Amino acid sequence: MKQKNEITFDLILLAAGKGERMGFEKQFAPINGQPIWQIALEQIRYYPACNTIIIVFPKTAPIDRAFFDKNSALRWVYGGALRSDSVWNALQYYNTLSVKSPYIAIHDAARPVVDHAVLDRMMDKIREGEKAVIPTLNASDTIKKYSGRHITETLNRDELVLAQTPQLFEADIIQTSYRNIFAKQTENGRNGDEYNPSDDSSLVEANGTKVAIVAGSPNLRKITVKEDFDYLKHLLAQHFETRTAMGYDVHKFRSWTTNDTSHNIKICGVEVEHDYGIDAHSDGDVGIHALCDAIFGCLADGDIGSHFPPSDDKWKDADSEFFLRYAMRKIQKAGAKVILLDVTIICELPKIGPETQRMKNRLAEMCNLPMNRISIKATTSEKLGFTGRKEGLSAFATATISLPLSQE
Ligand code: CTP
Ligand code: MG
Repeated sequence: MKQKNEITFDLILLAAGKGERMGFEKQFAPINGQPIWQIALEQIRYYPACNTIIIVFPKTAPIDRAFFDKNSALRWVYGGALRSDSVWNALQYYNTLSVKSPYIAIHDAARPVVDHAVLDRMMDKIREGEKAVIPTLNASDTIKKYSGRHITETLNRDELVLAQTPQLFEADIIQTSYRNIFAKQTENGRNGDEYNPSDDSSLVEANGTKVAIVAGSPNLRKITVKEDFDYLKHLLAQHFETRTAMGYDVHKFRSWTTNDTSHNIKICGVEVEHDYGIDAHSDGDVGIHALCDAIFGCLADGDIGSHFPPSDDKWKDADSEFFLRYAMRKIQKAGAKVILLDVTIICELPKIGPETQRMKNRLAEMCNLPMNRISIKATTSEKLGFTGRKEGLSAFATATISLPLSQE
């Protein structure tokens, strides 16, 4: 939940280039099955201050409308011939939004690895009162000017920085800076290079606003030529770690009473008829409780009891679906992806086998995951122990996730 008065931004994600230097539209090239523009989107969309994201695609791109229909915070527009045309189109679209953030970030999808620490540094500058902030790297090579085959000037390296994206601006300032150059278009076209700036902050500078700098990141390197693509593959492989954690839960059976309106118990979100009810504070869904603990375990973030204390009456008879959706949101906010959720239910009765397909369907729906990332198994305990005596049931779960390595 965003706090009131918190500074937020809408993001323009530029993916409308032709990739001429690469030889193909690099933003659609997949790495580990995901196109580069989508890697960039996933890296940035859960940053807390980020509201609406406008993705700019080439006019020839097939648009997955179902994907956008599902996500109201994600919008798309077509771009134009130059990068600045693409930004301009997106800015026009931004104006039509009914809810606008006071700041606009502009980012190249061709820089898909976005460290949130860079965004944190930029947001700090905005809080200090800056109106335009960009991430930069110090120039480690000496930069020279040349003409023809000879150097004409050596620049003082100590005065140089390399500009990256995302670049963050007060909305009015970036709008005005763009309007000023685009307003000069005539029916006969455009004159001059000003329509083709290599970054957005140069227009803001030209318009008289001071642009603040923060430390950028080598991970923000732009994918321009083939070697950058190989570097990105390597970087992404190193950028994520795989974590596995387990969860366990037990609930006791109880006799049904006249207050019970059905003789169904909940397991993995599915109602199953049973001779006994479940003695629990919430709906007593062992499968989901074990799964939530496995997810919290992967994030090293407590357990279900620490997030939803049983001492709090708010969670009495709570639907466990709420807990699981909460745990999945934590995964998304961490920029992590689920590789596999695996649950084993242990009980003599009810019979779980015939229900596993329904359970997989329910969990897939709650977690917004494909079925091949969810596994449900069941076993009896050969009539041994409390499950064998039919005093209750238990569940083990393991979650395996891929999580971005932290910057520490
Ligand atoms: N971009 C865009 N619209 C354009 C040109 C570029 O949205 N008309 C985007 C690119 O998709 C990229 C970012 O701006 O994410 C930076 O541009 P660049 O690296 O130059 O990409 P391309 O223009 O695609 O590459 P090239 O210049 O080699 O054709
Ligand atoms: Mg280009």
